[in-house]
Amino acid sequence: MTDTTPASMPATLAGLVLRLDQARITGVRETGTETGTVPASRYADPAHWQREQDALFAQWPIVAAHSSEVPAGSALPFDALGVPIVITRSADGLARAFFNVCRHRGMTLVQCDGPEPAKAKPCKTLVCPYHAWTYGLDGALRHRLHADAFDGLDPATLNLVELPCSEAGGLIFVKRTPGPAFSAAGFLAGLDAHLDWLGLADMRVFRKVDHVYPANWKLTADAFLEGYHIRVLHRDTIYPFFADAFTVNMHAGPHQDTLAIRRAAFEALEAFDTPRDRYALCKLATPTQLIFPNTFVIWHPDYVSLIGMFSPAPDAVRWVHTMLIPPDRTGDDWVPHWEKTFRLIEETVFQQEDIACATAIQRGLASGANTNLNMGRLEHEVLRFHRGVDAAIGGTLVPPA
Ligand code: FES
Ligand SMILES: [Fe+2]
Repeated sequence: MTDTTPASMPATLAGLVLRLDQARITGVRETGTETGTVPASRYADPAHWQREQDALFAQWPIVAAHSSEVPAGSALPFDALGVPIVITRSADGLARAFFNVCRHRGMTLVQCDGPEPAKAKPCKTLVCPYHAWTYGLDGALRHRLHADAFDGLDPATLNLVELPCSEAGGLIFVKRTPGPAFSAAGFLAGLDAHLDWLGLADMRVFRKVDHVYPANWKLTADAFLEGYHIRVLHRDTIYPFFADAFTVNMHAGPHQDTLAIRRAAFEALEAFDTPRDRYALCKLATPTQLIFPNTFVIWHPDYVSLIGMFSPAPDAVRWVHTMLIPPDRTGDDWVPHWEKTFRLIEETVFQQEDIACATAIQRGLASGANTNLNMGRLEHEVLRFHRGVDAAIGGTLVPPA
């Protein structure tokens, strides 16, 4: 490894790359120091699910969209947290979130279009489809049809109900519960610098899927927190590109960043330079960020999977996968390449392998065969993730205020 770390690469990411190089040179696999179990009830107990809803999904900042999904002068409906929310971006560039609920008689303001994942609608105002009360993209009530018929109702009290919303690293975060503002950059605890270096904000949406599967959301999360399964479950799809269970990872607050080392790193016989850009890094390893609690950002060689795992019921995960591509590869000539890539990653690797495995485990949990699921030292990050969820429920890990 030559000492040419570009100043722009965050030191924490460069530290991971150094550990990747050590693994490559020594052939020694990093593991955690602990083994443990996760109680089966964590994935099936309705009371536990309700505690997660109350303490996690209702209180923590949750990634609702990639920044590019809400251009200036548009509104994006978002309902994956179980309540209707709308994210707007006004001409000043500021992203805001509101309950997507009219203050007159409660109609949904911006509709989702059928079964397809929601897309932002260009607009200057939000006009209720019921009686046309009209709000600015800043949530202020601007107009009421026949306003003089509402005796004694102060329009100043009828602005949309705003939700905490903040943006960093190319991601828009919202909290489902009204309250004080928070800083997404502060919440990311340094991972924002990783996302900035990797260039997440510049990526563009190629495709988005939004499906519900019969598995607890943490079963799909578990699958993205260890590389132990790649050799077996993904034997014929992505394992040919990866070294067997070689990962290095770091923590940032409740979040983490992992490099899953690719075979190409081991094939480099000479010392390699510190990667100068994301393409160089992603040849050697696949960076994967867990943004606690339910978002994964996976850096494939030339595109990104942004995945939200939502929890509509104890035995259901709402899987929202946004495939992001580089801004210089959005032309028509790239479409066949991205279509093929999407089929491989979403329809084969994720749906037929990772998600199919999660749904099979959920069925197995119902049998009662296992009271605990066993985790080895290659699965230590799964244990840490569950400790984080438990700590958030128990009140010892608190969301940013
Ligand atoms: S419910 Fe929105 S204008 Fe009546
Ligand atoms: Fe997997």
